[in-house]
Amino acid sequence: MISVSNSEQQKIIKKVYNHGHEQIFRFWNELDVSLRERLLQQIDTVDFELLERLFKSSQEQEHGEDTINLQPAEIITLLDREKNDKDVLPLGEKALRNGEVAAFLVAGGQGSRLGFDGPKGIYPVTPVKQKSLFQNQTEKLLAMAEKYGKIIPWYIMTSQTNHQQTKEYFEQENYFGYKADKVKFFMQDMLPAVDFNGKLILDKKSHFFESPNGHGGSIKALWDSGSIKEMEKNGIKYIFYFQVDNVLVNICDPYYLGYHIAGNAQVSNKVVHKVNAEEKMGVICKMNDKTGVLEYSDLDEKDMYALDEKNDLKYWGGNTAVHVFSVDFIRKENESGFRLPYHIANKSIPYLNDDGKIVKPDEKNGMKFETFVFDAMADAQKVTTIEIKREEEFSALKNKEGSDSPETVLRDQLKLFASWLQNAGIEVPLEPLVKLEISPLFALHAGDVQKKKDKIPAPFNGMYVE
Ligand code: UTP
Repeated sequence: MISVSNSEQQKIIKKVYNHGHEQIFRFWNELDVSLRERLLQQIDTVDFELLERLFKSSQEQEHGEDTINLQPAEIITLLDREKNDKDVLPLGEKALRNGEVAAFLVAGGQGSRLGFDGPKGIYPVTPVKQKSLFQNQTEKLLAMAEKYGKIIPWYIMTSQTNHQQTKEYFEQENYFGYKADKVKFFMQDMLPAVDFNGKLILDKKSHFFESPNGHGGSIKALWDSGSIKEMEKNGIKYIFYFQVDNVLVNICDPYYLGYHIAGNAQVSNKVVHKVNAEEKMGVICKMNDKTGVLEYSDLDEKDMYALDEKNDLKYWGGNTAVHVFSVDFIRKENESGFRLPYHIANKSIPYLNDDGKIVKPDEKNGMKFETFVFDAMADAQKVTTIEIKREEEFSALKNKEGSDSPETVLRDQLKLFASWLQNAGIEVPLEPLVKLEISPLFALHAGDVQKKKDKIPAPFNGMYVE
């Protein structure tokens, strides 16, 4: 065993040997004092018992899986909403006016599919002004603050991979006019990946590979960062959770909040109708009587194509990853320790070869462990799910090209803006789509455009409405 004079550091080293990860000291002799310290500090954050448990369960999963009793979940459909929206709206609006709602953005992911250098939220998305995802979201929140006379506290979860850059971006841009003291950044935890023998993987001589612990880590990070206590102190009861990449997200939607409150739910969920059976979306369903989201890859073919009595897909509700959580539910999720299950994904992970050179393998060489936020639904006594119109509220930026890419996100915004104008009786061609953008500060939905249509010059030939 390598030895150092500092007894605390020696304990850390011993832990590594006890758990059989001593290969991470392969380059110890080449490291100077500060790099050695850095490696030991990283080791000190690792929960080796957890890693061992996860690796063991990965081996067990390969032998057979439990069968799940799958049933459709209850969903408040668009048709139901035509009747009920007006009844729940006052509840949501009241919560907003009373300052009982916080916005919560999870932006700790690595955005590897998009391949953008920097936090995904900085990616320019709007058609004319090329506003970033973050700016677009901030302006939506500014518009909500104006509407309801209350600035909505905004919690933003980042991870070690992008925390600094995200904060600096907001600071540089003066928070796009939002009150800086209403925006709080905090980081989620990281978790090491392991190779197929369960060993840590060096990606530098003084560092092993880690990745954020999944969006489910937000449940823990809300607690660890003191945000839940702060919310309770400030009278916040509901957390509006959204992800960084949905350009059409309807932030703090009062109808949605209203359904959550009326249903006495602890967690709520928004779904869209899947385009077809094969669309790669998790579906909302009941698994062994508990409402939750079943990942696309876990839905077997029979259930994927199954039809109901109306000849519609039996599992049609595609998860959009927009949730409302009651604050007291997040407290309960944490009081006896974080308990979301970890999912295992085999990935190609960069590693140092024997010569100390970094290798980016084409094939999968290890596994990452991630938690998913929707797994928290299984712990809720009451989950409310509502259907939304995809063209109005859901278009995600995930990939460099093809589906869910800059191209589709642009198209979906153009279509939506054009439809708002048309709805207000303003002529705009739909084929081909014209380049135009409506600022969230002008309108958040068709109704706002309708009300303000006199402010739009006729004939409409502008590209940007603000
Ligand atoms: P995705 O599942 O799309 O992952 O995250 P990603 O990391 O952004 O992108 P890929 O898979 O590497 O291409 C959905 C949302 O969850 C957040 C992301 O920032 C995004 O808002 N997320 C994901 C986290 O906050 N932390 C995580 O550990 C993972």
